[in-house]
Amino acid sequence: MATVFVALLMLVALITTSSPLACRAAVEDPLQDFCVALNANDPQITINGLLCKPAAEVQDADFASQLLRNPGNFSPKLGSAVNPATATTFGALKTQGLSIVRVDLRPRGLIPPHVHPRATEVLYLAQGTLLVGFVSTAPQNRLFSKTIYAGDLFVFPRGLPHFQFNPDKSKPALAIAAFNSQNPGISQLAVALFAPNPPLPEEVLEITLGVGNEELHRLIKSVQEVIST
Ligand code: GLV
Ligand code: MN
Repeated sequence: MATVFVALLMLVALITTSSPLACRAAVEDPLQDFCVALNANDPQITINGLLCKPAAEVQDADFASQLLRNPGNFSPKLGSAVNPATATTFGALKTQGLSIVRVDLRPRGLIPPHVHPRATEVLYLAQGTLLVGFVSTAPQNRLFSKTIYAGDLFVFPRGLPHFQFNPDKSKPALAIAAFNSQNPGISQLAVALFAPNPPLPEEVLEITLGVGNEELHRLIKSVQEVIST
């Protein structure tokens, strides 16, 4: 009986790890030198060896990108711009387990609290000053925060809410951040709470925040104004 059970377990393990239809929960280590994505819009399927440009067609230029030469689109309300290069926009990153982003902050500009569900972020501040921080789970709800200066690094551990704020009233800040995932994902906390589609039930938010309906509508409108511009 025990032998049958072990054999069954082995069969299940074999099927779940080798079937092309198997659903993978995490990005796999690459099994080849590279897998340059076929095109910028190919689906984010992380099965090694599939959906790559044929190796013979890969060019030197596929490993270079000019994406971060310029800032992304500035949010007027937040005073910040994020320009990411992930496997979706820079095909050479596919299966390599990393990506990168350029972050520009105007004086008093903010990257509001957000999380990356699939990656740790390490930020290099190239210009200016930033007040940065994240909130941990153990110790629970402890804010780790620091003012950093040009040339400094700061690490935001995977999945933890974090922010970056330029406290300077006259000088901009420029940072480059790297992630240990080709597709770190991002969820901005205020948007996830107040502006998801479809919206969260109002009762859920009212009880969570301890506010009445009028106050809740004011908050929702305010968040929508911030993200709509
Ligand atoms: C900054 O934290 C970013 O993820 O762009
Ligand atoms: Mn981040």
